[in-house]
This record gives sequence, C-alpha cells and structure tokens, in this order.
Amino acid sequence: HQALTKVKNIEKIVLGRYEIETWYFSPLPSEYKNSKKLYFCEFCLNILETKEQLQRHMRKCDLKYPPGDEIYRSGVLSLFEVDGRKNKGYTTNLCILAKFFLDHKAIPCEVASFLFYILCECDDRGCHMVAYFSKEKYSEDSYNLSCILTLPPYQQKGYGKFLIAFSYELSKREGVVGTPEKPLSDLGWRSYQSYWTRVLLNAIKEHKNDISFKKLSKMTAIRPFDVFNTLRTLKLVQYKKGGRPVICRDPKILDHHLKAAGSGGLEVDASKLIWTPYV
Ligand code: COA
Ligand code: NA
Repeated sequence: HQALTKVKNIEKIVLGRYEIETWYFSPLPSEYKNSKKLYFCEFCLNILETKEQLQRHMRKCDLKYPPGDEIYRSGVLSLFEVDGRKNKGYTTNLCILAKFFLDHKAIPCEVASFLFYILCECDDRGCHMVAYFSKEKYSEDSYNLSCILTLPPYQQKGYGKFLIAFSYELSKREGVVGTPEKPLSDLGWRSYQSYWTRVLLNAIKEHKNDISFKKLSKMTAIRPFDVFNTLRTLKLVQYKKGGRPVICRDPKILDHHLKAAGSGGLEVDASKLIWTPYV
C-alpha cells in the first residue's frame, strides 16, 4: 500500500496558459484514475479530464480571482485569503494540485482548519495564481506556515521569499512568533535559511548596540530557536567569560554572510496589508 502511493500517477497538469510536468504522486479521487493529464480551471480549480471539458467549463465559470478576501495589493500582485471552511472544494483541489510538487507532506484531511494565502499576478483577464501557502487557524506549535508552493513556471523569481516574509508579517500583526511546519523540503529549507539570514543580519547591522536573541525574535517574529540556530550555524555566536552568548557584530563578517545568502526576493510592503487576525 505504502509503495503504491509513491508512483507518479499524473504526468502533466494544465493550468491557465501553462502545461506543467508534475513532480510527485497526488491522491486523486478514483474517477481520475485513467487520466495521464489533468486540466484545472485556473480560477475555481475544478478538475477536468479533457481540453474540451475545460473549454466548456470556462464558458460557464465566472470566477476571475480566488474565492476569498483580497488582503494585499501592490502593482500587478494581489494576495487573497481563502478560508478552508467556507471554500472546501477550492481548497481541497488546491491541496491536490500542490501535492504534485510536494514529496513529504500529507494533504491536510481537514481543510476547514486552515487558511490559504493565494498570490496572484493580475491582468485584464483576471487574477492568475502564481504561489500560495497554507496556515493553521490555531497552532499549538507556533506554526505560521504549513505548506508553501510556487508553481514551477513562476519559481525563482522571489515569490517564495515574498510569501515567507508575508507569513511573518501576519505573525507580527498577531503579536506572536512563528515557525514553518516541519519537515521542510530541500527547496523550502534553502528559502528559509536565506530569509532568516538576511532578516536577522540586517537587523543586527541596523542596531547600534549589542542585541539579544529575545529582542531579535521580537523584532522579526522569527521564533527564538530559529534565531539562535541560524546565528549559531553561521558561527556568529560567541561565548564570553561567564558563558553568556554574544552575537558577533563585525560588519565585514555580516556582509560576507549577507552576500552568500542571496537575494531578498520581492519586498512585502507591510503598509499595504489590510488584515485582522483570525479569531
Ligand atoms: N535551485 C537552487 N536553489 C533554489 C531553487 C532551485 N531550483 N529554487 C529556489 N532556490 C532557493 C534559492 O536559494 C533562492 O534564493 P536566491 O534566488 O536568492 O538564490 C530561494 O530558494 C528562494 O527563491 P524564491 O524565488 O523566493 O523561491 P521560489 O518562488 O522559487 O519558491 C519554494 C521556493 C520552496 C516555495 C519552491 O521551490 C517550491 O514551491 N518548491 C516545491 C514545494 C516545496 O518544496 N515547498 C516547501 C515545503 S512545504
Ligand atoms: Na513545510
């Protein structure tokens, strides 16, 4: 049974103007078991089995953006918050779509307990999904992000780091610290390492005096353990006499690590976030 679930079942998916090769197996309802290629309505995420079915569907479907609240807009980018409880079909199909590119994550069986943040590029035809992340409504483990995906045609343009930054902006609004759900994929891990390094080292540089782990965590909403671990891995934690850890502030060393951490991705303009925490 375990082994069976590993075999890639669908070769390609069609979404908007892209035909995308899948990476992994995704658990589909049995009605699709004879398909090698699936067609997603890029707006409502209904799944169709032929091009003709999709065309027929597109003539009837009048959705032009994700079924939720637009909480951020900057230039052509818009971000929508979709509640899994109110949009079961949409979010279930989004999880099925995402699973084609996620190896190790199980699909949440209860979409109702998650919120989904959908990043879109908008034009006169509508808002086209490029990336998303999901987030538990209530997390006892301080998770502020559960799954994150940038659709392959849009990868490595900075959208992943944009969404990671966005997840921490939400935590700041909630007045809590957060961390991504584990395990993370290699690509996910690399994106987080790069994000944490840039945010923490820039904060250390801007702060004129010594800064504590606690203060760094409060400023960035990055969980204290991730702050400590990132700085320790970069060998920026020194132990002074008496055993108290001190964070290295040598600008040359900090700049060296900042350079190695890569680009910052797309900036989140926190003043454009119109959002109140879920209660
Ligand atoms: N090869 C090497 N490094 C890569 C990479 C690739 N193909 N794709 C991303 N990275 C690394 C780079 O370090 C990059 O930073 P840089 O551009 O400064 O070098 C960093 O990831 C983030 O790049 P960014 O463009 O912001 O991310 P993205 O939009 O490509 O999205 C993921 C990153 C992780 C969301 C994306 O790779 C993805 O959707 N993967 C499949 C799903 C997944 O594994 N999700 C995480 C687990 S839940
Ligand atoms: Na993850």
